[in-house]
Amino acid sequence: MVTVKEHYENHLAKYYSWMSGGFSKKLEENRKFIKDHDLWPRGSGVAVDLGAGSGFQSIPLAALGYYVIAIDLSHHLLSELKKNAKDLSIEIINDDLLNFSKHAPDRVELVVCMGDTLTHLNTHQNIRKLLRSVYSVLEIGGQVILTFRDLTSELKGLDRFIPVRNDANTIFTCFLEYEKDYVKVHDIIYEKKHNQWELKKSVFNKIRISPQWTREILQEFGFKIDTYDIYNSVACIIAHKV
Ligand SMILES: C[S@@+](CC[C@H](N)C(=O)[O-])C[C@H]1O[C@@H](n2cnc3c(N)ncnc32)[C@H](O)[C@@H]1O
Repeated sequence: MVTVKEHYENHLAKYYSWMSGGFSKKLEENRKFIKDHDLWPRGSGVAVDLGAGSGFQSIPLAALGYYVIAIDLSHHLLSELKKNAKDLSIEIINDDLLNFSKHAPDRVELVVCMGDTLTHLNTHQNIRKLLRSVYSVLEIGGQVILTFRDLTSELKGLDRFIPVRNDANTIFTCFLEYEKDYVKVHDIIYEKKHNQWELKKSVFNKIRISPQWTREILQEFGFKIDTYDIYNSVACIIAHKV
């Protein structure tokens, strides 16, 4: 089993923006999310993007006036982010997001960990540790936004094969294998090169965390919950520090 970093760097990162539906589409989706949730800089104006990837959240947040600290393990995705960020105020940090507080200033207004990044952490303990640090860096009234897939209920049999995206030259399929605390995510890519289909495959673990458990942790640390939605098995939790 490869690590998350290896999975992205050696396999997924090159296809990530494409397989997510395309860069512009995801930017637009996140712009709408930010507008619908009435986010704009009201305090220090500092936002931290945990697992920023190619910038689907960092870019619209910076365009709204936040100073964004974008953290990710993937060199490849961060260079995409850099290319797309142009002159926006985005500080790019290539590090483990568990170290994010080392890179954050004293006052942070917003922390986002979106697009299923939370399930990439390897233990429940690390998720608790992360959310505790998020609470300590946030200013009073500052918000945290978590969006992640609820993997607690199992797909069965052939439903575990998920067609992600395809075009004339690439076919991306995901296969999910459920274990007690983790789901093995097999990312299977067929790519056409010189008229031949080449198979590339890699598997990594995602952790099975329930939205309820995550909400309870946030409350235990002192957050007040503003939004708690689950739609198509994707949880969205927004909370603020009181
Ligand atoms: C599913 S992608 C989400 C990216 C982006 N937020 C989005 O909405 O598309 C997960 C991202 O988290 C990064 N990541 C996973 N574990 C990480 C860790 N421990 N530290 C930093 N980045 C991590 C991966 O490299 C990847 O870019």
